[in-house]
Amino acid sequence: MGDAPANIFAAVSAPASRTSELSLFVLAVTGAIFFVVFGLTIVAVVRFRRRDTDDGREPPQVYGSNQLETAWTVVPVLIVLVLALTTARVIQSIQGVTRPANAIDVIVIGHQWWWELRYPGLGIVTANELHVPVSDPLAPTPTWLTLLSADVAHSFWVPRLAGKTDLIPNRVNHMWIAPTAPGVYVGQCAEYCGTQHAKMLLRVYVHPRDEFERWAQAQRQGDPQVPSELDAVVAGRRVFESNACINCHSVAGTVGNGRYGPDLTHLMSRATLAAGAAPLSPETLRAWIRDPNGIKPGAHMPAMKLTEQQIDQLVQFLLTLH
Ligand code: CUA
Repeated sequence: MGDAPANIFAAVSAPASRTSELSLFVLAVTGAIFFVVFGLTIVAVVRFRRRDTDDGREPPQVYGSNQLETAWTVVPVLIVLVLALTTARVIQSIQGVTRPANAIDVIVIGHQWWWELRYPGLGIVTANELHVPVSDPLAPTPTWLTLLSADVAHSFWVPRLAGKTDLIPNRVNHMWIAPTAPGVYVGQCAEYCGTQHAKMLLRVYVHPRDEFERWAQAQRQGDPQVPSELDAVVAGRRVFESNACINCHSVAGTVGNGRYGPDLTHLMSRATLAAGAAPLSPETLRAWIRDPNGIKPGAHMPAMKLTEQQIDQLVQFLLTLH
C-alpha cells in the first residue's frame, strides 16, 4: 500500500464522494453562467464597438421591459434555489445519518501536536495512524468518529475520505467515513493549533475486513512480549519506568500509564513517529529521544538528558513494542 495523494477529487469514501460530486455540479452550473455572461459581454463589445462612421451621438435609449426584468429575476432565483436545495440534500445525506449498529467506533482526541485514537468497543488505544475496515457500499460498515480535544481547536481532515470536522475543547463533534477501497490515505490537522500544526499529520489505513481483524487482534494483546533474556531490553524498560517518560506515555504491562503523550504499547506497529514528522526507525527514535525539538521544534516532549547508553537501551526496549 503506497501513499495516496490527498486529492479531494479522488474520493474513496461516501462523505468525500458526495461533496466532490456536488462541487462538480456547482462548478458546471456556475461555469455555464460564466460562459453565457462572458459570451454576451464579448458579443456586445464587438458588435457595438466605436466605429469611424459614428456621428458622436448616443444611440436611442430604451427603458423598461417587464419581460426582461422578470426573466433576469426569476431565472437567477431558480438557479440559486436549485443550488441551495442540492446542497441541503447532500448535507442531510451526510449529517442526518444515524449510527448503524455495525459501525466501528473511534474516539479521536486532538493534542498539540498528535492524534490520540481510542477504540472503546475493541479495547484499543493508539496514535496518529487510524486503522479501519473497508466498507462495502451494499452492506456498509462505516467508522464512526467522536471528535474531542485535549487542549485547543484542531480539525480532522483526510481529503479522500471526508470533509473537515473540527475538534473543539469542551465539545463533542461527530463524523463518519465509509471508505470503499483499501489503501493508505493521508491527511492532517486543518485548523491552526500552534507551532507544530504543520506536523500534525494523520494516516488512515483502510484494510479488507479480515486484515483489519488481524490488526485489531494484535493491538488488543495487552502486555508486549518482552524477551526477558535480552539485557538491553530489560535495562531499556528500566530507563522508561524510572524516568518521566511514564508521566506522559502508556505501555501496557509497565507502570507507564500517562495520557499526555501517545500510547506506546504497539509503537512499532506504526510507520511514523511524532504524528508523521518522521518515519519510524531505530535511528529516528534515537534522534527523537535525544532531542525532540530537532525533529519537531516546539514539541511538548522534553529532551530527557539521557546518556547515549540509556538512549540505546531505551530504543532496544521500544523496538520490542509491536
Ligand atoms: Cu492540530 Cu492544527
